[in-house]
Amino acid sequence: MSVVKAIGVLTSGGDAPGMNAAIRAVVRSGLYYGIKVMGIRKGYDGLIHGDIEEMTARSVGDIIQRGGTILQTARSPQFKTEEGLNKAMAMAKVFGIDALVVIGGDGSYKGARDISNLGMNVIGIPGTIDNDIGCTDYTIGYDTALNTVQDAIDKIRDTAYSHERCSVLEVMGRHAGYIAVNVSISGGAEAVILPEKPFDLDKDVLKPIIEGRNRGKKNYTVIVAEGVEGKAIEIAKEITEKTGIEARATILGHIQRGGSPTVQDRVMASMMGLKAVEVLKAGGRNRVISVRNGFVTDIDLNEALEMKKALPEELIGLSKILSL
Ligand code: ADP
Ligand code: F6P
Repeated sequence: MSVVKAIGVLTSGGDAPGMNAAIRAVVRSGLYYGIKVMGIRKGYDGLIHGDIEEMTARSVGDIIQRGGTILQTARSPQFKTEEGLNKAMAMAKVFGIDALVVIGGDGSYKGARDISNLGMNVIGIPGTIDNDIGCTDYTIGYDTALNTVQDAIDKIRDTAYSHERCSVLEVMGRHAGYIAVNVSISGGAEAVILPEKPFDLDKDVLKPIIEGRNRGKKNYTVIVAEGVEGKAIEIAKEITEKTGIEARATILGHIQRGGSPTVQDRVMASMMGLKAVEVLKAGGRNRVISVRNGFVTDIDLNEALEMKKALPEELIGLSKILSL
């Protein structure tokens, strides 16, 4: 039997498509197992200020298809202070919350670790478009963001072909190049510039463009991850100056965070939400739900925070080989 009587669920950090599917899964799995679920609005800020309401099966109806997060999210500087953490603990007590499910990125897990040190039981669910969480192969929102970027690349390519131009696209990912390297493959880019790899403009960007032109290419795509020094606008300018090919920069920005989640994001979010509740029901404490080799599993929160994952070298190599 579960010792947990009431779960508080919140979304924290940057929103990601599929977070609603995860909220829905936590609420409905909780109810299925006879556990009350309280929705906490605006991340850790909502916990500090008591912006909390009991959720029902109906309150998560009609949300699985919606991007963003119905609970809203926040970056809470107050939660990083001792005073904020103590207030959050006190408020959890007022609402009878004895476990938290935090849907967010690794910043949110650091907050989770801090409140777990005060005695709260916290389960993390990875939600970020960046896919930059060390303990898991997959994060909620990543697949939708990839498909949004891909759609943009295809559209930009139509006009780049018509004008024989080079398009330089800056994509999100914070300090990681997961989105960038994957869309460079799916979008058939001539070059990709990643935060994980030092780059040489002449050798890694200008050379493949010039060689491509000599082989008869009619348009060129360069993907720049936002975490790279020297952004899309400057790189586009240099391409124009040094190759004579007109280059245009596009910074995709927050369009990458919105939109209806893909099937993969909805299913993964649903599986992770259920797993979080089952871990609590089984007596688990301070765990992060993760996907390893296609399976949904859970690992210790502190261990999860120590884990790093490298961008697969094969993907970087593949992108280069196929850009010929
Ligand atoms: P993400 O969870 O997407 O990585 P952030 O890094 O913005 O997003 O973190 C979300 C929230 O988690 C922050 O606003 C803060 O309340 C909490 N948080 C982030 N970093 C820390 C930290 N080092 N220590 C304690 N809490 C943190
Ligand atoms: O972590 C998600 C993300 O969209 C990153 O890719 C990006 O660096 C950051 O959040 C942008 O944050 P904000 O919405 O605060 O501008």
